[in-house]
Amino acid sequence: MKKVITYGTFDLLHYGHINLLRRAKELGDYLIVALSTDEFNRGKGKECYFSYDQRRLLLEAIRYVDLVIPETCWEQKISDVKEFRVDVFCMGDDWRGRFDFLREYCQVVYFDRTPEISTSKIKDDLETSR
Ligand code: CTP
Repeated sequence: MKKVITYGTFDLLHYGHINLLRRAKELGDYLIVALSTDEFNRGKGKECYFSYDQRRLLLEAIRYVDLVIPETCWEQKISDVKEFRVDVFCMGDDWRGRFDFLREYCQVVYFDRTPEISTSKIKDDLETSR
């Protein structure tokens, strides 16, 4: 069984996220999503609309996603890859090059982002339409 892992916040789930998850699952048989916790996001100065549990509920309902685990810090990636015997790590290309150090442990793939959609854009658009 080929295992794939990706990391992210996935707040206000949108079609860019779904494209990413679909392409991630196509790389293997089993997709793990490491979902940023609220505490980890706060440390990055990011405040989510949906809580961790709400975001996890949404991700677990997606057919491409097999397992959701918490992402609590930047440093956990190597141990996750080892613990879950991950074959492929993937992210959108806003992170291109940032995780190349994982090539020592697994394949690393960056996908082109879906254009013109992001959680920030949804928030901005809703704010300006008020
Ligand atoms: N992603 C993507 N295409 C988009 C938006 C996101 O491929 N249009 C990918 C990101 O590259 C990442 C994953 O989806 O691998 C989760 O991204 P996340 O940061 O949670 O979503 P964004 O919409 O980019 O959120 P924000 O605007 O807060 O950065």
